[in-house]
Amino acid sequence: MSCFGLFKRKPRSSEGSPGSVRRGGSAPPSGPATTTGSGSAVSTSLSDDSGAVRPVSKSGGSSQSQHSISSLYEERGHGQLRAFQYEELQAATADFGRAQKLGEGGFGSVYKGFIRAADPRGDRVAVAVKRLNQRSLQGHKQWLAEVQFLGVLDHPNLVKLLGYCADDSERGAQRLLVYEYMPNKSLEDHLFGRANPPLSWNKRLQIILGAAEGLAYLHEGVEIQVIYRDFKTSNILLDKDFRARLSDFGLAREGPTGTNTHVSTAVVGTHGYAAPEYVDTGHLTSKSDVWSFGVVLYEILTGRRSLDRNKPAAEQKLLEWVAQFPPDSRSFRVIMDPKLRGEYSVKAAREIAKLANRCLLKNAKERPTMTEVVEVLRQAVQAHAEPARGDINRNGSGKGKKANAVTTPSRR
Ligand SMILES: Nc1ncnc2c1ncn2[C@@H]1O[C@H](COP(=O)(O)OP(=O)(O)OP(=O)(O)O)[C@@H](O)[C@H]1O
Ligand SMILES: [Mg+2]
Repeated sequence: MSCFGLFKRKPRSSEGSPGSVRRGGSAPPSGPATTTGSGSAVSTSLSDDSGAVRPVSKSGGSSQSQHSISSLYEERGHGQLRAFQYEELQAATADFGRAQKLGEGGFGSVYKGFIRAADPRGDRVAVAVKRLNQRSLQGHKQWLAEVQFLGVLDHPNLVKLLGYCADDSERGAQRLLVYEYMPNKSLEDHLFGRANPPLSWNKRLQIILGAAEGLAYLHEGVEIQVIYRDFKTSNILLDKDFRARLSDFGLAREGPTGTNTHVSTAVVGTHGYAAPEYVDTGHLTSKSDVWSFGVVLYEILTGRRSLDRNKPAAEQKLLEWVAQFPPDSRSFRVIMDPKLRGEYSVKAAREIAKLANRCLLKNAKERPTMTEVVEVLRQAVQAHAEPARGDINRNGSGKGKKANAVTTPSRR
């Protein structure tokens, strides 16, 4: 699913111009954080439109520090990242060959490749190389935001950025990002794709808990608050152990600071996931991410996409459809993904649906924080491992498989 808004609505006047790229190797005003593959230098200062969005509203309070992502990146970010030559990445991906292509998103294509580890005697390591669309003004902004955020952020549930490449030559402006390769692709591939076996209930819970922990870290675990803005199943990558890793920080923004309650920005994100108040007003808070999280919770339960034009009219919009089957109703199980074949804990599923409903409250302030969400999910996962008596399979023998054995059709 591609991004929207960015291509449809112009940035508001409160937003400035994109971070600049200088040609010819002269040092940019904010300090030379990177040198490029072909001799140009890249400014790392983010303009209002590409990360350090200026807050405009002053009501309520927030105690975020006065750090900015640019200053944090200058302090400690860029030392962590490797600057690649364009030719290195070209060779690593068989010249961005079709056979190497892992996927394509709104901002570019992603290729599998192999690079030598920084240690010259090290083995070759698998990487994913994202080449941002050329001639796109947005391309550079996404690239810069991603380099700065992922250069600073560090958490087991975020994808690791290994390095980048900015190359301005006769080839045109090339912007690339090099990530750790995630062998199990994205949650989207497993939840909706037919190429992979269905995801078990246990795996779904582990993945969504990990994704929640990643978001909680962004909102509450860093000196600055980070609003992710593009939480969706294709951006939840899965490592070799099926641990969730949030990817794509090109749309991430710094949260409000001081007494500001929100940042004001152009509306970007993906149809079906963005919070209604954000779409209506452009006012962005961490609770916009919480809404998107609620949408993904329902996708995990149902195995359906938030928007699916191939379904009958009444079922195309997931949130409208599930609203007919509330968590405490007898009909609740109608919504559950048939690919689970009844092998899930109904009790945990109801709790998760209730949590999703809280994340999807119209009044953003009433939505839980991601830290609260993590807590509720942890409890659901634990309850799932130690199911209550009522959650035993009643489908026959009465010997009742436990819900943690994830075989609980319990068709009452
Ligand atoms: N680090 C990675 N390891 C393995 N595969 C990856 C990696 N990063 C991205 N991919 C693959 O590339 C695909 C395209 O990613 P990309 O982020 O460009 O687009 P998207 O998430 O599908 O859409 P959007 O641009 O709207 O975010 C992903 O769905 C995923 O399958
Ligand atoms: Mg993506």
